[in-house]
Amino acid sequence: MSATRKAYRSALLHSIADPADVGVENSFEYFEDGLLVVDQGKITAIGHAAELLPTLPADIEVVQYQNALITPGFIDTHIHFPQTGMIGSYGEQLLDWLNTYTFPCEKQFADKAHADKVAKIFVEELLRNGTTTALVFGSVHPESVNAFFEEAERLDLRMIAGKVMMDRNAPDYLTDTAESGYAESKALIERWHGKGRLHYAVTPRFAPTSTPEQLQLAGQLLGEHEGLYMHTHLSENLKEIEWVKSLFPEQNGYLDVYDHFKLLGERSVFAHGVHLCDAECQRLAETGSAVAFCPTSNLFLGSGLFNLPQAEQFKVKVGLGTDVGAGTSFSLLNTLNEAYKVMQLQGARLHPFKSLYLATLGGARALSLDDRIGSLKAGNDADFVVLDYKATPLLDYRLQQSNSIEETLFVLTTLGDDRTISQTFAAGVCVHQRG
Ligand code: GUN
Ligand code: ZN
Repeated sequence: MSATRKAYRSALLHSIADPADVGVENSFEYFEDGLLVVDQGKITAIGHAAELLPTLPADIEVVQYQNALITPGFIDTHIHFPQTGMIGSYGEQLLDWLNTYTFPCEKQFADKAHADKVAKIFVEELLRNGTTTALVFGSVHPESVNAFFEEAERLDLRMIAGKVMMDRNAPDYLTDTAESGYAESKALIERWHGKGRLHYAVTPRFAPTSTPEQLQLAGQLLGEHEGLYMHTHLSENLKEIEWVKSLFPEQNGYLDVYDHFKLLGERSVFAHGVHLCDAECQRLAETGSAVAFCPTSNLFLGSGLFNLPQAEQFKVKVGLGTDVGAGTSFSLLNTLNEAYKVMQLQGARLHPFKSLYLATLGGARALSLDDRIGSLKAGNDADFVVLDYKATPLLDYRLQQSNSIEETLFVLTTLGDDRTISQTFAAGVCVHQRG
């Protein structure tokens, strides 16, 4: 029995609730000298080392870390795999940025060999940054999703992805049709959804690039298979919102377009939601839909500032997305750094334990996966990261001045990036070891 069991002794920190619901002090568990016990890809126990060690078999392997903190793996609730090669494309806001940079870049994913090459780079980059689960946009080509899922399956990762559905207002080389988008998505669902730790997301790009026929078929598809996700963009940019109103004059605003086609629900995730009205927040909440706030992207494209207090007021589920390639980093730590600044610009604060929640348990709740990932509770998948307090000379020196785990956490989210992640574990296996 003990041969497959392994224990990790370190400082341990995880969220157990939303600070907005229970207050900051009751939202986390911290073990200064903790023990995390893992067996067959699952967490089997968490606690103080002094209490747990005597209960374990004498021959169990115990890996010990100094100057480190173990947290759950990070959860990225919105990212584009085919945009890996175009991060940092200069000078445009959303609609021009799509036409100038995004569509030509995504065109290359018709070629499976290219998709395979980028899938390896993309997944490795996720793991280098401590992200163990992501909700991923492919391109319009099924090849892109096959390439991504093949790599995720090889590493036994819990990942969600889908092929873009897009049948208008985009170049001919990058559009499907309502029927082919439905049929290709269905074939991908049959091949991948529920295989290992993989899940499929029906992925209409955003309302302007789908005809009503395509959105209707997307809604139909959601009803045809259990447990599917729906992943799209919503209210990111003011010109985009005006465009949606002109394309769908019968609907009462942007969210109502998706609502009309039955695209809201417990596994529906809407990226951005920067310019939502209260009624839209209310509708998102009552349908169990989530928003993915993407601060680095919103700043980069000049889209606006996310409104976390509004989402909290209406109890909308919130995750954080990097939104690479409009987003400028794969790192959720870096994304939290920018999220803090977005709150400051609005005269508010992002508490470090709310940050931890958003990057882990909050993301898991946004994806309705909090019974499997997002915290270190027994029974969950053993997806976790080891953060190195000495990752850089500055981090090391700064953390020597820290007086509390709260301060340490805040500094990690301010100075942290891929260098901070010394190891990433997925299903109990080390899938990234920093060089
Ligand atoms: N809206 C529609 N497509 C996209 C995309 O690829 N990136 C972002 N940030 N917004 C979008
Ligand atoms: Zn996006």
